[in-house]
Amino acid sequence: MCGIVGVIGRDDTTEVLLNGLEKLEYRGYDSAGIYVDSKSGDGHLVKEKGKIAELRAAVGPDVKGTVGIGHTRWATHGIPSNNNAHPQVSANGRFYLVHNGVLENYEELNSKYLSDVTFKSETDTEVAVQLIEYFVNSGKSVLDAFRQMVDLVVGSFAFLMVDRNDPERLYVAKNKSPLLIGLGQGFNVVCSDSLAMLSLTHEFDELHDGETAIVTKDQVEIFNREYQAVERNPYHVELDENETGKGTYPFFMLKEIDEQPAVLRRLVDQYMGERDQFKFDPRLIEQMAQADQIYIVAAGTSYHAGLAAKTIVEKIAKVPVAVELASEFGYHLPILTKHPFFVFLSQSGETADSRQVLVKMKKMGYPILTITNVDRSTLSREADFTVLLHAGPEIAVASTKAYTAQVTVMSILAKALGQKLKTDDSKIDLRHQLGIIANAIQTIVDNKEEIEKYASDFLEKTTNAFYIGRGQDYNASLEAALKLKEISYIQAEGFAAGELKHGTISLIIEGTPVIAIITDEVTAGLTRGNIKEVEARGANTLRIVSEDLAESKDQIIMPKIDQVLAPILTVVPAQLLAYYATIQRGYNVDQPRNLAKSVTVE
Ligand code: G6P
Repeated sequence: MCGIVGVIGRDDTTEVLLNGLEKLEYRGYDSAGIYVDSKSGDGHLVKEKGKIAELRAAVGPDVKGTVGIGHTRWATHGIPSNNNAHPQVSANGRFYLVHNGVLENYEELNSKYLSDVTFKSETDTEVAVQLIEYFVNSGKSVLDAFRQMVDLVVGSFAFLMVDRNDPERLYVAKNKSPLLIGLGQGFNVVCSDSLAMLSLTHEFDELHDGETAIVTKDQVEIFNREYQAVERNPYHVELDENETGKGTYPFFMLKEIDEQPAVLRRLVDQYMGERDQFKFDPRLIEQMAQADQIYIVAAGTSYHAGLAAKTIVEKIAKVPVAVELASEFGYHLPILTKHPFFVFLSQSGETADSRQVLVKMKKMGYPILTITNVDRSTLSREADFTVLLHAGPEIAVASTKAYTAQVTVMSILAKALGQKLKTDDSKIDLRHQLGIIANAIQTIVDNKEEIEKYASDFLEKTTNAFYIGRGQDYNASLEAALKLKEISYIQAEGFAAGELKHGTISLIIEGTPVIAIITDEVTAGLTRGNIKEVEARGANTLRIVSEDLAESKDQIIMPKIDQVLAPILTVVPAQLLAYYATIQRGYNVDQPRNLAKSVTVE
């Protein structure tokens, strides 16, 4: 989703902005732009539809300065185009503004204040920058005009603004959309994600909702909603910049798939001590143990991880779990149990759909845990407890290692909780099981060519495909189908194997690929029956099967593991199938069309 960068006090402003925007490419975008200025008032605005490489090519050698702002835009209001790209400019060309978020009342503000202004774009953002000019024209200082605009707009925003007449300060505001200020020696930067600026600084000030800031090259002043100055202690981002690169891999997604065995082992070290001692905050387990139901709230892949986690927690800890789509739950609240405990699963920790639920549940006083890959992300800061995924930065839009990490962390939590509640199933030798899974994933990624061949046989040419399974294999099928459709654009559906015959089987024709996942001995025979049904109607079937249930014609065989943990393993060949199908069909694996990594609008 939109990404913001800004810098003040450096001579290499243009390069800092372009490098920063490249680091934010992973968030998803369809146009980009920069505005660079210097004390001499020699401003340059460059915007391009398409990739940062095109923006870079459009930036001439004269585009130099000591202050600048930049933006990657993921279109919401108005098509992707040069006009709609940010920075947006006020009518007299004095104010330049970039924005991440959605302004809900822009039409109302437009008709109330700006009916005489000719707009150059279709964006909601332009209203904000035109309002600043309007208030300055009516006699306000730039700071007051900026603040008045911030007070008037309703919605989500991270704003960064430069005044061409005074290019020695950056005007910053935040509500709901992420924004950080990075601190340098003789310079400062602003960014949506610390990844964008790690080459310049590891010290950041976080901004909270409702706060504004004025940033000069030597100073950062942060103000609360009442515009009183607030103190902020900077925090240190541990991440090494090298971790944010692709290394020798052609795509981040492949690197991230390969990293999964290491992530699993890291999580075991991180959260499981010897002799089943756990390294979670004891108050967390205490509070979870008091819950009569755990509600897992999430979106996208994290929602699928929640479905797999439900089965694990219910089996091992014997606590009922409800898994909820964040975008639905917050506005259609079901009747909650008496003592709910909320778990927010979110790779980025920034998803707006999940956050609106968190804010509501917090207001209702319920205990909240966020499980996220991003330390200090919004959902992590606002929860009572945070458990980190320690998966390293996930840059590819299609989530892979975050899914396996989420299910793994939930399984470790389930065991800690089960132990506290003294359930029989908490005796599962989880350390051993996760070890087998890590080794099995390693074997799969070491033999990728096999999966590449199946992708070519089954998926390279098709327009649609099905994954089927039962129980945990159904949960894995949902995630497997999502992986496939989001990057290869094959219309793919994950289906409960037994349900296909109740309608959807009408879509099976000669050559339709149906990929079955079978790891459960209780239902294996039934799923085999469903395979026969689709084969009888012409389907090409590919079978991912655990070795104890394998038959001679099955293609992808996995070692036998405790069935409840199966999705952590079975999802991996599906991730690789999606990856190779996408390469074979000639698409960009890491940046699929229309998608954003961190979705900060509802
Ligand atoms: C976006 C991403 C998905 C992700 C979902 C939830 O839609 O494209 O890959 O699963 O957001 O993100 P989260 O960061 O909350 O896990």
